[in-house]
Amino acid sequence: MSDLRIVDHPLVKHHMTRLRDVRTPPSEFRLLVQRLAVLLAYEATQDLKLIEHEIETPIQQTQGSQLGERIGLVPILRAGLGMVDPILNLIPAAEVWHLGLYRDEATARPVEYYSKLPPGRPVDLALVVDPMLATGGSAAAALEALHAWGVPQTRLLSLIAAPEGVQEVARRFPATPVHVCALDTCLNDRHFIVPGLGDAGDRIFNTTNEG
Ligand code: PRP
Repeated sequence: MSDLRIVDHPLVKHHMTRLRDVRTPPSEFRLLVQRLAVLLAYEATQDLKLIEHEIETPIQQTQGSQLGERIGLVPILRAGLGMVDPILNLIPAAEVWHLGLYRDEATARPVEYYSKLPPGRPVDLALVVDPMLATGGSAAAALEALHAWGVPQTRLLSLIAAPEGVQEVARRFPATPVHVCALDTCLNDRHFIVPGLGDAGDRIFNTTNEG
């Protein structure tokens, strides 16, 4: 069974609609990805572990809290890059570990071309970020690499997902929650999410190459 968490919020619905619109230009698309990444990360981190400690305000001593775990932010290149800076603003001490994967257009299978994961010292919690979860192949490959690194806890943060991708992640990584802003209907015969938003990487980096 999948552990799917869909953010149900008017701001998410509003910004997702602009994100999907084919007329939204790359400059606005990038800003929308950033806004949605913040809203998604806020929801996906609501149970982070805290350590209590004492601080002094200008008035008196009081108990405070700080994050108690090493958190890794793992963008799947390229499109995941669009979600990194806004989430780093929320979690400034997060470590960013890049993974390069692209989907072979003919087979829809993920091809790894870059991995920055070091040997040893895995983070406590990895947040994998990629705007799109389609067949789930890329996300599963990223999660595979993180588990091989020894990361005990992983979460996947995607702006939109197809049911096929959610099921694939649940089948291979049942302990990994999947946080999304929207669950779409299906994949088309080219493995694109329907209704979707096209190709997030191309729209973020203005490489649609049309016309
Ligand atoms: C897209 C997207 C995901 C992947 C999703 O990347 O950003 O990484 O496809 O598809 P999947 O769930 O079927 O694996 P793409 O391969 O287009 O690379 P890009 O980010 O460089 O554009």
